[in-house]
Amino acid sequence: MMLSGKRLLLIVSGSIAAYKALELARLCGKAGASVTGLLTASGARFVTPHAMAAITGARVYGDLWSLEDETHAGHIRLAREHDAIIVAPASADLLAKMALGLADDLATTVLLATTRPILAAPAMNPTMWAKPATQGHVATLTARGVRFVGPDSGAMAEAESGPGRLAEPAAILAAVDAMLGGGALAGRHALVTSGPTWEALDPVRYIANRSSGRQGHAIAAALAALGARVTLVSGPVAIADPAGVTVARVESAREMLAACEAALPADIVVAAAAVADWRPAEIGARKIKKQPGDAPAPLALAENPDILATLSHPGPRRPRLVIGFAAETHDVVAHATAKRARKGCDWIIANDVSGDVMGGEENTVHIVTEGGVEDWPRLAKAEVASRIAARIASVFA
Ligand code: C5P
Repeated sequence: MMLSGKRLLLIVSGSIAAYKALELARLCGKAGASVTGLLTASGARFVTPHAMAAITGARVYGDLWSLEDETHAGHIRLAREHDAIIVAPASADLLAKMALGLADDLATTVLLATTRPILAAPAMNPTMWAKPATQGHVATLTARGVRFVGPDSGAMAEAESGPGRLAEPAAILAAVDAMLGGGALAGRHALVTSGPTWEALDPVRYIANRSSGRQGHAIAAALAALGARVTLVSGPVAIADPAGVTVARVESAREMLAACEAALPADIVVAAAAVADWRPAEIGARKIKKQPGDAPAPLALAENPDILATLSHPGPRRPRLVIGFAAETHDVVAHATAKRARKGCDWIIANDVSGDVMGGEENTVHIVTEGGVEDWPRLAKAEVASRIAARIASVFA
């Protein structure tokens, strides 16, 4: 942990999840950091300054117009005197103000005046999170270096479900630690592939599969949360880029291989992409036309490069830990065990995709290693990802 002796400013904005900010403050204190609480007007409706002061053992701030504080340029001091700023929970409103550079209260003024690293843990209704306005603000802030952790998916206070839950305090703590240079995978480079590939037939048609990228993207986020530098090579997906990772977007298997090779050297590879085994042998330069009475033309296919096998190949540039996935509809573990040997990777994470796994929120996986097979229960994909990341970290410990 890098948190010992660090001074953290914890900004709490308005969300029912604000009660978890107290637990976060307690965990930061336990890790050796000192915490200053700053409540927005809405945040103070959910958490009292008294509760925050009792947990942090320090004065709690909230008023930009405090004559006593501002006589000494209090907002500038708060912005400079901390090693990092945590915004948890970060409401849709506060994220919008941060993206626009508004500064109409103490929290937004400090956030605009700071040069310190900022970690935001969003919490809001899933529809608010999915809105292009919110996603646009998150993209803007990410591009400017703000780190994000969460939101998690699951049940909301208002009896709806989806992405919008505040990340768990322990996960936020790990993300702060990683932001300050700590984390079990600090200094490691992880390369993750995710999503499907599209194999063009002509300028308008392609062959693809149902992979959503959810599991691979969650793994990239989980590795970044442990401090790894992560390169995510993603096929076409409809989900947001995970926070804190470098994303290379590709379409075809051949582009994916080139992007992976360009990202080497890496310490860790997780090949979670559903790469097409075959591609049309010829890509029509113009749209293939059907003439009246035409019989369907046979489709000639060519084999795609095997990215996982290529990266697993022994040699000086082989990453230390190479992990593949095996999506199977039957004989899951037997196929995965054979695949591990055939591809030359270290672990295979096997999953049964006969049900609603592709595109869904949950996954049941089996970890096939040299030592044998481990069966995990059905879990949220984010939970599968953090357990895989923790298992990877134990190899590098
Ligand atoms: O052979 P199969 O496609 O079932 O193997 C799955 C594993 O191999 C996954 O980890 C996938 O990302 C990887 N793979 C690959 N390149 C291919 C085919 C599969 O990296 N051309």
